[in-house]
Amino acid sequence: MTTERPLRVAIIGAGPAGTYAADILSKSGISTSIDIIERLPAPFGLVRYGVAPDHPRIKQIIVALANVLGRGDIRLLANVNVGTDLTLEDLQSHYDAVIFATGAFEDSDLNIPGIDLEGSYGAADFVSWFDGHPDVPRTWPLDAKEIAIFGVGNVALDVARVLAKHPKDIAVTEIPDNVLEGLSSSPVTDVHVFGRRGPAQVKFSPLELRELGHVPDVDVIVYPEDYEFDEASIDAAENNKQTKQVVKTLTDWTLKEPSGASRRIHLHFLQSPHEVLGEDGKVVAVRMERTELQGDGNVKGTGEFIDYPVQAVYRAVGYYGTEIEGIPFDQSKGTIANEGGRVVDGGDVVPGYYTTGWIKRGPVGLIGHTKSDAQETIANLVEDAPRLYAETKAGAEQLSPDNLLHLLKERGVPVVQWHDWELLDAHERALGEADGRERIKVVPREEMTDIALGRLKQQA
Ligand SMILES: Cc1cc2nc3c(=O)[nH]c(=O)nc-3n(C[C@H](O)[C@H](O)[C@H](O)COP(=O)(O)OP(=O)(O)OC[C@H]3O[C@@H](n4cnc5c(N)ncnc54)[C@H](O)[C@@H]3O)c2cc1C
Ligand SMILES: NC(=O)c1ccc[n+]([C@@H]2O[C@H](COP(=O)([O-])OP(=O)(O)OC[C@H]3O[C@@H](n4cnc5c(N)ncnc54)[C@H](OP(=O)(O)O)[C@@H]3O)[C@@H](O)[C@H]2O)c1
Repeated sequence: MTTERPLRVAIIGAGPAGTYAADILSKSGISTSIDIIERLPAPFGLVRYGVAPDHPRIKQIIVALANVLGRGDIRLLANVNVGTDLTLEDLQSHYDAVIFATGAFEDSDLNIPGIDLEGSYGAADFVSWFDGHPDVPRTWPLDAKEIAIFGVGNVALDVARVLAKHPKDIAVTEIPDNVLEGLSSSPVTDVHVFGRRGPAQVKFSPLELRELGHVPDVDVIVYPEDYEFDEASIDAAENNKQTKQVVKTLTDWTLKEPSGASRRIHLHFLQSPHEVLGEDGKVVAVRMERTELQGDGNVKGTGEFIDYPVQAVYRAVGYYGTEIEGIPFDQSKGTIANEGGRVVDGGDVVPGYYTTGWIKRGPVGLIGHTKSDAQETIANLVEDAPRLYAETKAGAEQLSPDNLLHLLKERGVPVVQWHDWELLDAHERALGEADGRERIKVVPREEMTDIALGRLKQQA
């Protein structure tokens, strides 16, 4: 009988998408044995390594995710990278089904001249740095007084806010010590954020936009000549609640006098990045092309160019998913090719492979959206379940949960399980408590694993 043993499922990625998928699958009514395999020594994906440190309320989603991962019926195998520590063949021979929930952590490209100059950065890299991602350098060059940010999404807002905030106003958060130190030496005075379309086409959330107006000693400056509304803009501002709120906030700001703050965030619209200008290989300015709306909310260039002197440029034009070798990938979208979460290759379903979250749908949407992604994917997996048992090539012994752990140990992979993460979590909280903060993140990967695996205690 195929259903005598639990269905063995590996979920790759312990971000919200993977965690929601595990939760939904565990409650689906079929008997399952679920492993979540995560490449970092800490779970929670972009909630830990993307959500800005000065958004502690959103970071609280970690409590709900931890309730799932720490419940005891789902096994976390962190610090294990699929692609190097485990191959696709390993996964095929140890599981009936594999769900890829690997998210997106790289910047989309922006192909304009000068984008590779020194002083030009991707927002995703900067976010990884300020959120203490273990795989990025410890220091970040913060020597620019004037900075340009391309893109008007929530990531651009996060980057602008973190760059413009005075260190004392972010020091109370879980921000890592090395990041606080870096930000403390920043001479920044002006951050220019550029949207290529109009105020009604920005992707900011209303709450996040309003927050910008309350950053201490930072003025938000807008330019009335950038305010243009075509038919589509008027329709969106009247009928879309979010757009209405955003447009109202932006319009209110046109009437506000600057307070004389020592730092400024300038919001510019209808200006598209044309070129990053350099001298001696370093960024010295950005050249923007004025655009005009076409009636449908899209724009075309006018041929009028404006230069802004800046010493650093951040492109916040979206994230891009990372390909896993051997898994069909849609290069145009940066996603795993799928239909309803079933991985497909040239239109044919690849048996036993599923996907969910940003790597399924593309790098847009809030944490909550990954729950509906997971519902669709798991519904399809559950429908396929009878076939999945039959299609598994491995024997019953290979499918034992112990077997994979032995394999990883044999390979010398220092696996971080949930109880190990709890040690690291407690350590970070203790560091924070001593400083009157909720936590202080440990950043270096080796230090993280040493603490999680109790190695530091042994050395002492
Ligand atoms: C800067 C930023 C700030 C954000 N802030 C908010 C916010 O305030 N509120 C909100 O609602 N949404 C926010 N979002 C959106 C939110 O983070 C995403 O909707 C959500 O994290 C997507 O979940 P995911 O699980 O698909 O991907 P991720 O969160 O990226 O999780 C994917 C996981 O897979 C792991 N992984 C990747 N490759 C491998 C591999 N080969 N082997 C093993 N593991 C692997 C990764 O390490 C990661 O832990 C933000 C996004 C960004 C970029
Ligand atoms: N606090 C929060 O809730 C929070 C924080 C961070 C992120 N997030 C979420 O995470 C997701 C990703 O955010 P994101 O900011 O990376 O993406 P996003 O919302 O898609 O914004 C990307 C921005 O880049 C612009 N852009 C793209 N290509 C461009 C180009 N070639 N030249 C100029 N501009 C270009 C887009 O303009 P066009 O519209 O003209 O294409 C858009 O303004 C979003 O769903 C976001 O809401 C949420």
